[in-house]
Amino acid sequence: MVNAAQRPTRVVVIGTGAVGATTAYTLFLRERASELVLIDVNHDKALGEALDMNHGLPFTGGVKLWAGDYSDCKDADVIVIAAGSNQRPGETRIDLLKRNAAIFDDIIKSIVKYNDHGIILIATNPVDILSYVSLKKSGFPVNRVIGSGTLLDSARFRYLIGQNKKINPRSIHAHIVGEHGDSEVPLWSIANVAGIGLEFTDEEREDIFNRTKNAAYEIINAKGSTSYAIALALDRIIVSILQNEASVLNVSTLLKNYNGVSDVYLGVPCIVDRSGVREILDLDLNETELAKFQASANKLKEQIANLDL
Ligand code: LAC
Repeated sequence: MVNAAQRPTRVVVIGTGAVGATTAYTLFLRERASELVLIDVNHDKALGEALDMNHGLPFTGGVKLWAGDYSDCKDADVIVIAAGSNQRPGETRIDLLKRNAAIFDDIIKSIVKYNDHGIILIATNPVDILSYVSLKKSGFPVNRVIGSGTLLDSARFRYLIGQNKKINPRSIHAHIVGEHGDSEVPLWSIANVAGIGLEFTDEEREDIFNRTKNAAYEIINAKGSTSYAIALALDRIIVSILQNEASVLNVSTLLKNYNGVSDVYLGVPCIVDRSGVREILDLDLNETELAKFQASANKLKEQIANLDL
């Protein structure tokens, strides 16, 4: 619930496709902010989404929601970027880079024209590279440019481990780090329940990780796009920001001398509060995990090197 005595909090969602609209609806239902603004290059789409949600207001609560424009970013606390193309069946997230990087120039320019104090939260893929692009183009401090990272991948990992162990995924503590994509890294060495390590056969590890890593492909083949779990992951990050929770979340942030990795955005455990990414938690990776993590970083750095930033 939003306390009426507080200053209004505002979340702007840029892009009202499957991810953006579902994220907005999640925030709307859970009343995460006092104001929600939808922006889309197709303004009619944003209008339609806003109208459809507002008609539900008699059943929900007191969120002020409208279809707006970039001037509404002025008072935004969090600006979610979910605009751009999403994967077609068989496409990797990296395949989206050229198309989506091209629209980020205008999006970031339009945001910073009105806002110099908010937190930019990127969901558009390839999210780690586009978060790096957003940092460079916005001039915002690194703590206030955050990618959704491997929070969703870690949720999928926890869900599948929970299925395997027949334990509620909320009690499973397990991390996927690195690229939100095909080079992501499972941290089997620290997966635990109540601090107790988890044992798996090699076949179980291979099955659980492959289903985690390939989840989006499976869902896209079945229904055309993913939306619900990524919306819940973005909601989780936004709550930690707006409620100043200081929760540890595997979001994507800029690394500097982190396990031998620098100058690239990757999903790692971060303390997320009202300042954005307050701190990155150091990970004690084993040899295999470290090699995979550095390979993930190098894969993205090769892509970044080809960009005109
Ligand atoms: C997924 C998209 C958000 O993994 O990349 O569902």
